[in-house]
Amino acid sequence: MAPLKGFFHSSIARKFWMAITGLFLVTFLVVHLTVNAFTLVSAELFNEAAHFMATNPLIQVMQYVLAAGFIIHIVMGIRLTLQNRKARPDRYAMEKAGANSSLGSRTMIQTGILVLLFLIIHLRNFFVPIKTGNMGGMDDYTLVTTLFGEWHYTLIYVVSFVLLGVHLNHGFQSAFQSVGWKDNRWKGLMSGVGTVYSIVVAGGFSLIAIYHFLF
Ligand code: HEM
Repeated sequence: MAPLKGFFHSSIARKFWMAITGLFLVTFLVVHLTVNAFTLVSAELFNEAAHFMATNPLIQVMQYVLAAGFIIHIVMGIRLTLQNRKARPDRYAMEKAGANSSLGSRTMIQTGILVLLFLIIHLRNFFVPIKTGNMGGMDDYTLVTTLFGEWHYTLIYVVSFVLLGVHLNHGFQSAFQSVGWKDNRWKGLMSGVGTVYSIVVAGGFSLIAIYHFLF
């Protein structure tokens, strides 16, 4: 059992699993943003895409994989943070003071927990009513536009997207380092790609929310 324990419980193993699940969630966000962007084109297109996502058997299986990905990422993230703080309290204090690390890298646990709070609100807003069919007679498109008609939801969502962007900006390059791409050239490239990705994701989701609030 000991080698299996190391496969999940050592610091390196936790970082590895965080990276794999993180990159999987990065891919999910691209698909989710693409489907949501259909709301900017037409109600029919979005409703059709949402219907496909809700009924396609492969997507149904992927929803369990997605839930497992989120749970592993969150649990490992919390345990890794606690493990690091216990092992290096001095180093943690130094990092906190901002010695040689970015604000994004020092606040991964805080931004992660805030995105998790957003996710709970978000699933309650969309996933639960759609799954239970409790949508008050609305279709998927009307559910989205009605929610963003309320300014406080638009605000909560946009603030969450900015926090998600900060989390992704560090998480993206960190994930590639954790799976072994530590070479300086790759590090620079992945940092750039990560920044572009984070801006597109945070900006894209925010644009959709603000558009439906305004129009
Ligand atoms: C403008 C922004 C967003 C809108 C309008 C939106 C809309 C939706 C809708 C309508 C659903 C239900 C889909 C269904 O079950 O048929 C959903 C599900 C979900 N959303 Fe979002 N979403 C947004 C941003 C996000 C973000 C930023 C995240 C992640 C941090 C996220 C994570 C999820 C998850 C995990 C589910 C459940 C899995 C799924 O059904 O695919 N969403 N969203």
